[in-house]
Amino acid sequence: MKAAVYDRTGPAAEVLRVVDIERPEPGPGEVRVRVHVSGVNPTDVKSRSGATPRPMDGFQIPHQDGAGVIDAVGPGGPEDRIGQRVWVYLAATGRRWGTAAEWTVVPQNHAVPLPDGVSMELGASLGVPGLTAHHLVFADGPVKDATVLVAGGAGAVGHFSIEFAAWGGAGRVASTVSGPAKAELARQAGAGHVVYYTDPDAASQITGAVGPVDRIVEVALGTNLQLDLAISRPGTVVACYAAESRDPVLPVRACMTANIVLRFMLLYSLPQAVLDQGAADIGTALRAGALTELPGHKFPLEEITAAHEAVEQGASGKVLVIPG
Ligand SMILES: NC(=O)c1ccc[n+]([C@@H]2O[C@H](COP(=O)([O-])OP(=O)(O)OC[C@H]3O[C@@H](n4cnc5c(N)ncnc54)[C@H](OP(=O)(O)O)[C@@H]3O)[C@@H](O)[C@H]2O)c1
Repeated sequence: MKAAVYDRTGPAAEVLRVVDIERPEPGPGEVRVRVHVSGVNPTDVKSRSGATPRPMDGFQIPHQDGAGVIDAVGPGGPEDRIGQRVWVYLAATGRRWGTAAEWTVVPQNHAVPLPDGVSMELGASLGVPGLTAHHLVFADGPVKDATVLVAGGAGAVGHFSIEFAAWGGAGRVASTVSGPAKAELARQAGAGHVVYYTDPDAASQITGAVGPVDRIVEVALGTNLQLDLAISRPGTVVACYAAESRDPVLPVRACMTANIVLRFMLLYSLPQAVLDQGAADIGTALRAGALTELPGHKFPLEEITAAHEAVEQGASGKVLVIPG
């Protein structure tokens, strides 16, 4: 099969190669998926570059997320799943077989049924961003009638966070972005109020529109903490999921005074039961039509280097690689 591989970390143009490689066979408890679309996330790029290196077993096919069709199951596995359309998550975690290839092999619970009518492009966008957004929005309980702020609502995680907040019945969903094009994306996802986070009066714009905020989905804690404190009330949860180039210095007294709760999360270290619940809820949300695609930037497998560089350059929307 054709696959993108790297056997050392470094710049995309130096380490990524597209090669012919033996097609993997599913072992016990695994399924094989013919990959139609592979989703690229910042984490894939950081693993490949060496910024956040992960253990490598000789070589690595990159990308955690994808969508396709099951064409084989491991010994004794559920043969009735052959032919099922699925979305795939954490394909490259502790395994060589990422989704930047014509086939991947994953544990069977990491290949989740994709409801009829849901595109492969959306399916390939659900793993890292969808499961992360689900946890950020729901880990502290239901958001029904709550006021939610999603920082960076045009990003992949931000996009699904807005959609999950709306699906969960939040009373008001606001978002911050850097400019008009991203504001439009956040609005399309369902944010009722969108504010530029660079505006000096962003905090008063937010509280003026939606009042104090109960939940904040935070992509840049250090940059935005003063804003978050200014729009919080006692009990507000700030759920953080991204590291910045420098760790912030935490203003402990200000956080104490505001009585806020800081939550941190990393998808890779969430318990499997949490991932299973996230995957199940994503299925329910998909069937309700609550999750949508971001504008896609598609690259053939042969142009995987350009795909990685697009992510590194902060492409707005979703970068996808098409292996077929
Ligand atoms: N903890 C986890 O398990 C986990 C899971 C998924 C992703 N992540 C990390 O989360 C980050 C985002 O991932 P992604 O896939 O959503 O990336 P993405 O699609 O590139 O989105 C990132 C968004 O953050 C926005 N942003 C940057 N600085 C901001 C600020 N100060 N305030 C508000 N928004 C800001 C960007 O908009 P502008 O450029 O316009 O500012 C962009 O829209 C990455 O670092 C990724 O590695 C972590």
